[in-house]
Amino acid sequence: MATDTDTAARDALAERLFGAALGAYEIMTVHLGDRLGLYRALRERGEATPAELAAETGTHERYVREWLEQQAVAGILKVDDAGAAPDERRYRLPPGHGEVLIDRDSLAHVTPMARFGVSFASVLPDVEEAFRTGGGVPWEDYGELGRDAQGDANRPLFANLLGSEWLPAIPDVHERLVADPPARVADVACGAGWSSIAIARAYPKVTVDGYDLDESSVELARANLAGTEVEDRVAFHLRDAGDPELAGSYQLVTVFEAIHDMSQPVEVLRALRGLVAEDGAVVVMDERVADVFTAPGDEVERLMYTYSVLCCLPVGLADTPSAGTGTVMRTDTLRRYAADAGFADVEVLPIEHEVFRFYRLVA
Ligand SMILES: C[S@@+](CC[C@H](N)C(=O)[O-])C[C@H]1O[C@@H](n2cnc3c(N)ncnc32)[C@H](O)[C@@H]1O
Repeated sequence: MATDTDTAARDALAERLFGAALGAYEIMTVHLGDRLGLYRALRERGEATPAELAAETGTHERYVREWLEQQAVAGILKVDDAGAAPDERRYRLPPGHGEVLIDRDSLAHVTPMARFGVSFASVLPDVEEAFRTGGGVPWEDYGELGRDAQGDANRPLFANLLGSEWLPAIPDVHERLVADPPARVADVACGAGWSSIAIARAYPKVTVDGYDLDESSVELARANLAGTEVEDRVAFHLRDAGDPELAGSYQLVTVFEAIHDMSQPVEVLRALRGLVAEDGAVVVMDERVADVFTAPGDEVERLMYTYSVLCCLPVGLADTPSAGTGTVMRTDTLRRYAADAGFADVEVLPIEHEVFRFYRLVA
């Protein structure tokens, strides 16, 4: 027989999942506003009726009217004349909301998470199948939306923090990057390339080689590089970082949010030892997950486990053999991979960020 505690737990979960479902549906409507340029057009115009916004964005007025009403009801947009006829109401983007929805360089920008959600949903049947077969889902299959979401989710962090806070917090690395002769940086698993571009912008002497094995990501990185004014110091290469023939003498090797995605992290880490100069540094940024499994977990842990189930684990298992790490790569796991790859130590760097942790791999 259900106790009062059971009933309260039932009601709390039902309420929580209802809120989560509502949030998931609303985030999809945010995605539509992003993709169709509705938010951008609203911000440029200041305010608009459904017909004006539809004309501006090349969309159909009836759909736009419904979307505007939904956005206002959800509290994302404002309508000052709610009592007017539906086609005469004027909608606007409140100050501050534009930054969250549109500004790609703002640390408050959240729209890439909507893109992630839609990308994850698009491969959900494949993930379901992978649960049955034990196979995986290649990163490529998450499509343009997945690549864009990954690139744009980290872009504000790289643009605002990497060169001004994170690398300066590693004094010897920072000093080497500003010194002569100009340092060479290898940005391994560079994805959309924003980290490579941010390093080159922050350190005007360095040259950066970005490596990634995903062809579409390398193409995207090259497209992102165009017009940045660091084109002469940044190059992107289609390359598996686990290739034992990869050799170099880089003063800094970075791997941002990617070790946990790799099917063969030990092989890649071993290859990094051949990439870094004798006096160089290997810096890894990965998820700031807890040191031990704790349930229930905090929001970061919950977020990382959803990424893991929906994306990183299936991506990691798309190759065989695979370490099958998943997003929740705890510090001990990285220590084990690094030791197996021949590194003497892994230092946790004193860089504070709520989602990411920084490590230095010591040869
Ligand atoms: C989560 S994304 C991170 C991308 C980028 N560093 C960022 O922070 O946005 C992981 C990236 O690792 C790349 N990757 C995975 N295994 C790799 C390997 N063995 N060599 C090079 N790149 C790899 C994937 O193609 C993908 O672009």
